[in-house]
Amino acid sequence: MNVPLLDLVAQYREIKDDVLAAMMRVIERQSFIMGPEVAQLEEQIARLSGAKHGIACASGTDALLLPLKALDLRAGDEVITTPFTFFASAGTIHNAGGTPVFVDIDPLTMNISPAAIEAAITPRTRAIVVVHLFGQMAAMDLIGPIASRHGLPVIEDGAQSIGARRKIDGQWRSSGELGAVGTLSFFPTKNLGAWGDAGLMVTQDDALAERLRRLRLHGGSRQYYHEEVGTNSRLDTLQAAVLLAKLPYLSRWTQARKEHAARYTSAFKGQADICPPAIDPANDHIFHQYTIRVPRRDEFQNHLKSRGIGHSIYYPLALHLQPCFASLGYHAGSFPVAERATESVISLPVYPEMTDAQQDAVIDAVLSFYT
Ligand SMILES: Cc1ncc(COP(=O)(O)O)c(C=O)c1O
Repeated sequence: MNVPLLDLVAQYREIKDDVLAAMMRVIERQSFIMGPEVAQLEEQIARLSGAKHGIACASGTDALLLPLKALDLRAGDEVITTPFTFFASAGTIHNAGGTPVFVDIDPLTMNISPAAIEAAITPRTRAIVVVHLFGQMAAMDLIGPIASRHGLPVIEDGAQSIGARRKIDGQWRSSGELGAVGTLSFFPTKNLGAWGDAGLMVTQDDALAERLRRLRLHGGSRQYYHEEVGTNSRLDTLQAAVLLAKLPYLSRWTQARKEHAARYTSAFKGQADICPPAIDPANDHIFHQYTIRVPRRDEFQNHLKSRGIGHSIYYPLALHLQPCFASLGYHAGSFPVAERATESVISLPVYPEMTDAQQDAVIDAVLSFYT
C-alpha cells in the first residue's frame, strides 16, 4: 500500500465546498487586496494564539523578516537562534541586516536549549528567534526570564506550531502569546495551509502591531505617504478566504494528528532502535511532524521507499554548516546535538486523513526493518 507523507487531495475532498464558496464570494466581489477576510483572519488567529493583534502577510518567511526589520539591526548586531530548523528562521536574520548566532538544541525535544542561549548572549545580542519545532513549544518558561534579564525581545517562529500550548505556572500559554512577536506560516503543507503562500504575525504590543502593519505596506500608514521603507507583503484576500474556511476544521485535524502520533508511539514501544518523539510533559504537542530518530537511517529510507511509504528528512544539514553561512566561522562539531539530529531524524506520515490501514502499513514497514 502506498502511503504519502501528506495527502492534500484527501483534505481537499473534505473541505472543497466550503473553500470554493468562500473563494467565490471574493471573486464575485472582485476585491482581491486587503478585503474584509484579511481582517477577520487576523482577528481569529490572534484569538487562537492568545494575542491582541494579528497582522497577516505574504508568507511565514516575511512574518519573521518584518519583526526583524522592526529591530533596525546594524551591521554586527547578533540574533540568537537554533541551527536545527527550516532555513527561513536564520535567513531572515541575515536579510534584516543582522548576524545569526547559532546555539545547540535540547537532546530530547530538539528545540533550542535555554542554557545555550544564555551562554551565547554578548553586548551585541539584539534578539532571540525561538522555533517551536515540529509542533511542540520550546521552553518559553525558561527562555522568557533569560530574555527579560538581558532586555532582549523574543520572536517565536511558530510556523510549525499553530495551536500548540505549554503549561507555565499552571496556565496554558499558546504559541505566539509570550514573545514580542509570534509568527505563523500557512504554507500549503502546514497544519493550517493556504492554497498558496501566506503568513501572519501576532503580538500583544499596540505600537509594534502598528509598525508591522506599516512595514508590510511599503512603510506607510496612509497611501502614498511613507514614514519608512517597507515592502509589499500583503496577504491575498483569496488566501485569507481559504484559511477562514479551513479554520473550523483545525481542531479536529489536530486531534487526529495527536491520535496518530500516540498510535505510532505505542506501536514502537520497546523497540530499542526506534526513538519516538520526546514530548516535554509541559507541552501540548500538535504534531506538525512525527519525527523519529533511528540508526542506519539511509538504509531505512531506502526500505521505506521500496515499500511506498512517504517520509522526509527535516533537516539533513544544520544551518551553521550551510555553505551560505560559511563566513560565520562555524564548523562540523560546533553543535554536536543538532548535528547528530540531522543524521538520525526521519519524519513519518501523520496527516489527519490517514486511515488505520494506511498507518498499519507504515508501522509494519518500520517494524519489519528494525526487528
Ligand atoms: C520553522 C519554519 N520557519 C519559517 C518557515 C517559513 O514559512 P514560509 O514557507 O511560509 O515562508 C517555515 C516553513 O516553511 C518553517 O517551517
